[in-house]
Amino acid sequence: MHALDTEKLPRHLAIIMDGNGRWAQERMLKRIIGHQKGVETVRVIVEECSKLGIRYLTLFAFSAENWLRPKTEVKALMALLKKYIKAEVARMTANNIRFNVIGNRDELPPDVNDAVQEAIDRTERNTGMVLTLALSYGARQEIIRAAARLAADISAGTVNPGAVDERSFSSYLFTATIPDPDFLIRTSGEMRISNFLLWQLAYTELYFSNVNWPEFSRIELHKALRDYQSRERRFGRTSAQLQNRS
Ligand code: IPE
Ligand code: IPE
Ligand code: MG
Repeated sequence: MHALDTEKLPRHLAIIMDGNGRWAQERMLKRIIGHQKGVETVRVIVEECSKLGIRYLTLFAFSAENWLRPKTEVKALMALLKKYIKAEVARMTANNIRFNVIGNRDELPPDVNDAVQEAIDRTERNTGMVLTLALSYGARQEIIRAAARLAADISAGTVNPGAVDERSFSSYLFTATIPDPDFLIRTSGEMRISNFLLWQLAYTELYFSNVNWPEFSRIELHKALRDYQSRERRFGRTSAQLQNRS
């Protein structure tokens, strides 16, 4: 297969990291072992994306719906999350990575939230890749929150309803400062969006890998990116229109 064209990378790559539990269960291990192994994959992929020069990487780490899992698993995931964030701040600083979180942070345990805030503060002046973790994130909840905040501005008289457009609506989302994803990867063979970035994915190229997240590797990432590079993004236009555009 042809080599990766580093000039034609997605500006924003989003990943639904799925399959940790199945990876573990297939090996007769506890699900949490799969999550631990998944954290190692996060390290590898974050570093590789930053090296490649990807500007924005967004990882779905914990959904609003994941609170419905057994208490023990939720607790273990929160502990792992805190440990990861605390351990990674130094590495993020070394790699010039800026840390960011989207989601309903109020629902996170206070100690996790403190670790999140510390990582955001300590990396805020970094100018390299923006690493966003989606935590307690649900896209429908995000859209409702945006609509409610917009409605409040309209009733306060600071926004004219006739002037609301896609751009101004986007500014009420958690992703206000982040461009829409160009490419979405979901691992583990599931072909669904699971309430991730519903608004932002409108024109994103989708890629589904059968590999479970703990086994997702640099090679798999490159394979996905080469696939992305073979696609023509038409945004509603015809192919001929795109060819004629210089
Ligand atoms: C993804 O792996 C991690 C989280 C959702 C937190 P899963 O835990 O969903 O793994 P499977 O899908 O059960 O294999
Ligand atoms: C989506 O995975 C959420 C994350 C990867 C954090 P799930 O495993 O929760 O998704 P469903 O429930 O199978 O759709
Ligand atoms: Mg899953």
